[in-house]
Amino acid sequence: MVIKKSPPLEGEAKVNGSKNAALAIMASLLLTSGRSIIKNVPNSADIRHMIMLLQGLGCEISFAVEQNELMVDTTHASSWCVDTTVMKKMRASLLVMGPLLARFGRVQLSLPGGCAIGSRPINYHLNNLKKMGANFIFEGDIVLGHATALKPQRLVLEYPSVGTTENCIMASALTDGTTTIINASVEPEVIDLISAVKKMGVAIEVLPANTIVITGKKKLDPIIHTIIPDRLEAGALLLAGAITSGKLYIPDFSEHFLDVFLLKLKEMGHAITVGLNGKGIMLTSTRYPKAVSFKTAPFPGFPTDLQAPMMALQTVAQGTALIEEAVFENRMSHADELQKMGAFVEVTKNTAFITGVSSLQGAVVSATDIRASCSLLLAGLVAEGTTTMYGLDHWQRGYDSLEAKLVQLGASLTIIDECAQQQMIDTTKKNQPTSIL
Ligand code: EPU
Repeated sequence: MVIKKSPPLEGEAKVNGSKNAALAIMASLLLTSGRSIIKNVPNSADIRHMIMLLQGLGCEISFAVEQNELMVDTTHASSWCVDTTVMKKMRASLLVMGPLLARFGRVQLSLPGGCAIGSRPINYHLNNLKKMGANFIFEGDIVLGHATALKPQRLVLEYPSVGTTENCIMASALTDGTTTIINASVEPEVIDLISAVKKMGVAIEVLPANTIVITGKKKLDPIIHTIIPDRLEAGALLLAGAITSGKLYIPDFSEHFLDVFLLKLKEMGHAITVGLNGKGIMLTSTRYPKAVSFKTAPFPGFPTDLQAPMMALQTVAQGTALIEEAVFENRMSHADELQKMGAFVEVTKNTAFITGVSSLQGAVVSATDIRASCSLLLAGLVAEGTTTMYGLDHWQRGYDSLEAKLVQLGASLTIIDECAQQQMIDTTKKNQPTSIL
């Protein structure tokens, strides 16, 4: 992606459906038998990987990309063996573990791939599914799971892991009885999964102190469901407005998805106005943003997925910011790349000290995970000259045409098709006169 210093971004932009909510809900359809319709599904690479994964298990799927509508028919789903190539594409592949054990009593998959943001073990998933009666054996990289019948349980999570909570909800959906998850994740994407699984016929309650109570049902119905808006895309848009001293409006987006993040934008000096009933967010940015410190935390804290994008803003704010990444132990790779652009960032373990500079310079940088790519793009919008960002596959895994929305708001950026470029180079080579020597 080639990004040039851009004018203040101005205008209105709607956000797509949430990638992470859609991935979990797609996996949950394995609990049903029949034809479900999922609306507001973003067309990002991870969604296409999940489509491939489900097709590999026997689901029939069609994706009306223009309408963002996905039809998944699970009637003939009969396999519990997940293709290793697809499994390695993303961490979210792991989300079929709970539903496959629930529906078939068996699962076979390899360790998942995904963003390199920490060691990302799967012990919480395995330990809690074991408590429900599953057994696992490892054959090299392959995990073989087996459960004669999953049992309802009282599960205590040592950390409110998003994926573990989702797998446990889905694993308990077909059990005969009530499962309680203590210290569960209550991120908006988990709550969206809960509303989808409730539509299938499962009784689920979210109680105070992050407790989720699930009463399973023997047979679950297919559903029609609309995915919640993507708070991480909304965050990226607001940050693009703020870093370029612009003015942006995001209609229909609820402030409660991003309360602490919005608090920090206000603390920087940006004006945030929210419409009636907490919906519709207007950002009017300050020209003199103050640096702010923050620590990432499970919802409703500052989202780890917005840490890297927010760091880009701190590199050009006035003063010093301290950022602590408390969810993943290795999610600061963007700091080195921001330094190449002239940012002053010092990283010690999970903590970054950033002293704002008056300007950044365009550079050649590389994104190593989805949210790092967003961070570098944002920095590129205010850097003098041109920034070339490699690692575009990460961007495309997480965002559906966000670059086009940014261009519409005034950003100057282009995606260079490397295949087309390579073909051009090859053709030029062919047309060159061959040396007589
Ligand atoms: N953890 C363990 N053992 C486990 C599971 C998690 O130690 O068995 C640790 C992780 O290593 C991490 C922490 O627990 O340090 C939190 O991980 P969590 O399980 O909550 O994250 P996840 O389910 O793997 C989802 C999102 C991530 C997002 C995190 C945190 C999806 C597909 N992924 O990951 O999204 O950062 O929750 O909110 O929903 C992204 O979209 O860019 C992304 C990485």
